[in-house]
Amino acid sequence: MTSSICEIETAQFSDEFAEAVLSGLAQSHKNIPCRFLYDARGSELFEDITGLDEYYPTRTEIGLLTKHGPEIAERVGAGCAVVEFGSGSSRKTHILLENLTGASAYVPIDIDDAALKEAAARLRADFPRLSLYPVHADFSQGIDLPDEIANARKLGFFPGSTIGNFELDAAIDFLSDAGDLLGPDSDLLIGVDLQKDQAILVPAYDDSEGVTAEFTLNLLRRVNRELDGNLVISRFAHKAIYNDKIGRIEIYVESLADQAFEILGRKFSLKAGERIHVENSHKFTIPRFKALAKDAGWTSAQVWTDQNDLFSMHYLTRA
Ligand code: TRP
Repeated sequence: MTSSICEIETAQFSDEFAEAVLSGLAQSHKNIPCRFLYDARGSELFEDITGLDEYYPTRTEIGLLTKHGPEIAERVGAGCAVVEFGSGSSRKTHILLENLTGASAYVPIDIDDAALKEAAARLRADFPRLSLYPVHADFSQGIDLPDEIANARKLGFFPGSTIGNFELDAAIDFLSDAGDLLGPDSDLLIGVDLQKDQAILVPAYDDSEGVTAEFTLNLLRRVNRELDGNLVISRFAHKAIYNDKIGRIEIYVESLADQAFEILGRKFSLKAGERIHVENSHKFTIPRFKALAKDAGWTSAQVWTDQNDLFSMHYLTRA
């Protein structure tokens, strides 16, 4: 058996970007949805973030996957198709697939086509017997799975605590929709970042080298590149704040001066100190995440955490 490829393209990311930016900046709570952070440059910068000393989630989750891989494989069983939401470089998938020797197919879903193609090429070389069906799409907007895996039992894979980037209601909707998409016998392996001291949390989103700052400011560069903007990047700063009432990191781009700029011929102005909200990263306790999963129709059948309780991985089964 050789690997096969099938690509499903979703239309017009650029128009969506234009619409999201123009409407997001016209609101009183100015915002740009976080999915637009991940263009080719953004995906590259995010890869750099995952290697930072201050950014503990990636290495901690990789440690959990490596340590508990055999146990996870035992739970999953043979013949399943792995469906990953937001696959990026697929580095964690590599570890998962090394353990899941019985997996029949892998379906990476990502918004960045370049990252998707690169990851698929690498996996094709390393797992020649695995069928690969990359899907270029925004997984938060509703997708279809390739027909080829229609009859396989699915394991959803959702690492990186990306679930924490949704508002809580939207997180429940997403998990519930994922359950419908994956089917009645499916399981879902999900990475969930834990509540912890702000002295650890804040630097993870505001590192000393300024990589995270460059990642969020790339969103403005992208506006200039793709939407004919004339924003002066040096008049903005990256801002990461811990909101302890809600239990989440909030990421903003803050205006450093009273200023005006144009995007697609439309005029906008910002006061000094005014912010554009670009991301939330919710942090959970284990009971709180279990309750959220339950509201979405899943049962947390097993949880793994590291020694320092930085990060958790939940094995969800259908309730
Ligand atoms: N899923 C990642 C997280 O919440 C995304 C992320 C990491 C991120 N660092 C960021 C998003 C900085 C925006 C800005 O940890």
